[in-house]
Amino acid sequence: MLLEAPVYKELFGAVEIYEVLKVIKLDSQTREVGSLTVKNVPREDIYKTLEDIAVVVPMKNEKLQLVDGVLKAIPHQCPIIIVSNSKREGPNVFKQEVDLVKHFYSLTKSRIVMVHQRDPGIGEAFREVGYTDILDGESVRSGKGEGMIIGVLLAKALGAKYVGFVDADNYIPGSVNEYVKDYAAGFLMSESDYSMVRLSWRHKPKVSTRGLYFRKWGRVSEITNRYMNALFGVATGFETSIIVTGNAGEHAMSMKLADVMPFSTGYSIEPYELVYLFETFGQWKEREKFKEVYDQGVEVFQIETLNPHLHEDKGQEHVRDMILSSLGTIYHSELATESLRNAILEDLRIHSLIGEKEEPPKPKVMPSIGEVDVERWMKAVESESDTLLKFEV
Ligand code: GDD
Ligand code: MG
Repeated sequence: MLLEAPVYKELFGAVEIYEVLKVIKLDSQTREVGSLTVKNVPREDIYKTLEDIAVVVPMKNEKLQLVDGVLKAIPHQCPIIIVSNSKREGPNVFKQEVDLVKHFYSLTKSRIVMVHQRDPGIGEAFREVGYTDILDGESVRSGKGEGMIIGVLLAKALGAKYVGFVDADNYIPGSVNEYVKDYAAGFLMSESDYSMVRLSWRHKPKVSTRGLYFRKWGRVSEITNRYMNALFGVATGFETSIIVTGNAGEHAMSMKLADVMPFSTGYSIEPYELVYLFETFGQWKEREKFKEVYDQGVEVFQIETLNPHLHEDKGQEHVRDMILSSLGTIYHSELATESLRNAILEDLRIHSLIGEKEEPPKPKVMPSIGEVDVERWMKAVESESDTLLKFEV
């Protein structure tokens, strides 16, 4: 793959954020490119790295045709982890997904692990290892972030070196194939064991009965990025526009980084990842506890994909919720200044997203999974869960 070379970056303590890198050539073999501004990541290296990336697909009542395309597009070397929070009655969408996955396995012999997020056996496994903030009664809470945490633990149990996420509602299977390869390219460019790759899109058309629109879906990202950059600016004293992936659902990280990250609930998970990195590794707060992280630094790559991102339209209410929970992570950050908070409040009020006396929600943050005894958790999942489906190659 040829990408723009990572030349420009912003530093904030031990966090290094690279300016967005465009994909110039999706597939290239080893050879000198002869240009200092172009980075060559050979195909063979990408294919080798793919073996170490477990791909988590969170899903909740998505169209089966889309799920099918996504599964078929994930590179064959990558173990696939499906965490579903789909309906189990009226209709039983989860059963349909299970049938699809079984059929997919019989055709491809891919390595797959699948569970239902609300399976009480999964809840029991979390209780057994003392990780209870994720629970709602006897089961894991609903929410994309919660599903992703289950996915990270399953990936860790498989021994994956990296974990990447792809949404299940993607209309263009070829783009999913690219996303995972972009993750590999990012990891190959990184010099730290603590690395993250976040994807952005040049085009994000919106599907509707009236055709394709290129504007509206950018709204959440545009607002989140604006305030995420502002947070970076007030915390470092240097204004920036470097962050373009505040809400990157499509992203990946090294397991070593996943181990130290506390994750936030629902759709606030992705913006909170950045807020956490700034708060903790931007400042030199926990130098003793995270000595190795501070020594190596945390590298965040942002890659602009070649493919457009075309996914399901979940409606205006969903967009409002995402804006609120995203800005909530910034608003409640200890790095936010009074004037930044006021700007957020004013913006949310003008757009009638909150009332006069209201604030955006404080993110519900769950502890990092680094301390969880994964072997014990996985054993408990294997013995307690009714929905675990595990296909080895
Ligand atoms: N397991 C699980 N549990 N999956 C869920 C849940 C849940 O409670 N809720 C949603 N999902 C799945 C969806 O089925 C989809 O595959 C994926 O999570 C993303 O959810 P969408 O509802 O499609 O979100 P979006 O498209 O508006 O936003 C996506 O992109 C944003 C920007 O990149 C998400 O990935 C956001 O997290 C991201 O910020
Ligand atoms: Mg979507």
